[in-house]
Amino acid sequence: MSTSSSQPDFRRAAEAPPLPTRPWRFILFCLRPFSWLSLLMLLLETGQAAGSILVPYAIKALMDAVASQPSSTDILEAFRQPLLLLAGLNLAEIIFSRSSGAVLITMGPLLRQRTSRLLFAYLQNHSPRYFGNHFAGALAHRISETAMSVNHTTWSIICDFWPIAVTFSVSVTLLLGVHQGLGLFVAGWVLMYVLVSYWLATRCQPYAQDFAATRSMVNGKIVDAVTNILNAKLFARLPHERGYLDGFLDTELKSARRTFWYMERVRWFQFTAAAILKIGTIGYALQLWQAGEISVGAFAMSTGLAILVIGDARNLSRRFLEFFEYVGNVANGVETIIQSHEIIDIPDAKPLLISKGRIEFKNVCFSYEPPRLVFDQLNVVIEPGQRVGLVGFSGSGKSTFVNLILRNFEPQAGQILVDDQDINLATQESLHSQISLIPQDPSLFHRSLKENIGYGKLDADDEQIRTAAKLAHAEEFIAAIPEGYESLVGERGVKLSGGQRQRIAIARVMLKDAPILILDEATSSLDSVTEKTIQENLDRVMGRKTVIAIAHRLSTIAHLDRILVFDQGRIVEDGRHQELLDKQGFYYRLWTMQAGGFLPDEVVEVSENENQKQGGNAVLPSDAEQ
Ligand SMILES: Nc1ncnc2c1ncn2[C@@H]1O[C@H](COP(=O)(O)OP(=O)(O)OP(=O)(O)O)[C@@H](O)[C@H]1O
Ligand SMILES: [Mg+2]
Repeated sequence: MSTSSSQPDFRRAAEAPPLPTRPWRFILFCLRPFSWLSLLMLLLETGQAAGSILVPYAIKALMDAVASQPSSTDILEAFRQPLLLLAGLNLAEIIFSRSSGAVLITMGPLLRQRTSRLLFAYLQNHSPRYFGNHFAGALAHRISETAMSVNHTTWSIICDFWPIAVTFSVSVTLLLGVHQGLGLFVAGWVLMYVLVSYWLATRCQPYAQDFAATRSMVNGKIVDAVTNILNAKLFARLPHERGYLDGFLDTELKSARRTFWYMERVRWFQFTAAAILKIGTIGYALQLWQAGEISVGAFAMSTGLAILVIGDARNLSRRFLEFFEYVGNVANGVETIIQSHEIIDIPDAKPLLISKGRIEFKNVCFSYEPPRLVFDQLNVVIEPGQRVGLVGFSGSGKSTFVNLILRNFEPQAGQILVDDQDINLATQESLHSQISLIPQDPSLFHRSLKENIGYGKLDADDEQIRTAAKLAHAEEFIAAIPEGYESLVGERGVKLSGGQRQRIAIARVMLKDAPILILDEATSSLDSVTEKTIQENLDRVMGRKTVIAIAHRLSTIAHLDRILVFDQGRIVEDGRHQELLDKQGFYYRLWTMQAGGFLPDEVVEVSENENQKQGGNAVLPSDAEQ
């Protein structure tokens, strides 16, 4: 754990890179290993800029030679010096610029790789709540956008602003050498131009940002529409979708026009300012020449310099606009990704040692969004090797209970102990490597089936993978696919049926073989026959593991050692299946409603009190059952 001095509450996981939270510091942090290369590029760019700006100087020398040479002398002999200078300068420009290009090619991809890598490593340590609040696609987009913008910002400074600064200073110095008044005229123009361009760019920034935001919003709408295209087809709403999108495209159009019209104003300024400089310099230099204050060569050089400065200046105002956009992108990425980590290991966290698998909740109070409590002073002990079923209405807190054991969220008060060790004091890595979870709707990597199953044990051989698949009843359907274990499963596993996905998830957990196993509706997508065989295999694999199984279909957990009945965050009944039936309470009512998978013959009586609690629907099982 570490804190940032600027934000006292800022928490960063020890494994995460120490990324600064300010955009400029972040850019410098990414550039750190490349400081020598950046310096080299800066030197090469200086050489290139100086080379190109000295060309008019060589032309001056040439012109002066032309003006002063009587026609009879050997032309080549007389022009040798200025010609050599011109050739040398051109050669220098080529060498400097292409060397700088070579450094850029070496450094650019490395810089981008480093930025993406750092951001991804930082992102990995965020909590499930963070990932619940941010779209996966948007985060991935942010990483690549930020990495790209760090590069562009760097190039803007090294390859654009710096050479322009060199060009401006060298030109002004050369002109001051020719004639002070001319030098001061161009210097004044440059100063005004830079200030006005900068000011215009800052004024344009909100428009550009709004345009970028609108573009990304429209992009999001298109992605959503494409994702749901089957829904649109099923509801015969294709024209509706086009109309819906048109509205957003119109907004984008307006925003684009606003931005482009503003940029057009900037261009008006540029063209006018350029004309003033061109005509001003030529007129002024002409006057000076007439008055005999400067030579023909100096006149030619001044005009040449004016044209060069104008070319660079025109670049400058466009570069300013882009530069602000890049910096804005970096700021945006930094703000989204480099946030305080919610759940981190304490500084001297120890690995959790699970030998028996006893789980204890001690006065646990928990709320996702205070003040609405899910658990208020929850106390329960799950003994080593005990197999416990959790039942209760939808929203009663079953998934929250296992979320807390997995430390996906941290309780506001109380402790959760595994083998008498507080899980908040242990490393998350050790906790997660010793607890397995099969979620209700497992998501798979878009990798081969073999890799997905082998995820439970990275060094598993083919035989082990095959055995796990067999136990999870996945072998048959895998054998029926042409590529078998090598076939890819599609994004999140969409190319498999819900039940097939679930069986892959079961197989990978069987390979992981952790001492504590949690099943959140793990077999809910399976038909009863498959479920029964997998259940038997699971029972066998479970051995003496501690097992927590959530199920809406009560028959799947009736045979377990113990059943906890949840109601609104409280455990209202606790015991074996038969004991709970004998009690004729909450569990009994659920059971009779589901007996044999049919609705009961007679309406089950519900007490007034409970009926109100469940909004009058207490006799209805959860929506997952309907
Ligand atoms: N990420 C979350 N943020 C805020 N509230 C949440 C979140 N997850 C669950 N809740 C709320 O916490 C309460 C308990 O939810 P939980 O998911 O534990 O119920 P459950 O018993 O698992 O229900 P189900 O049988 O439908 O899976 C519910 O009121 C739910 O709305
Ligand atoms: Mg749940």
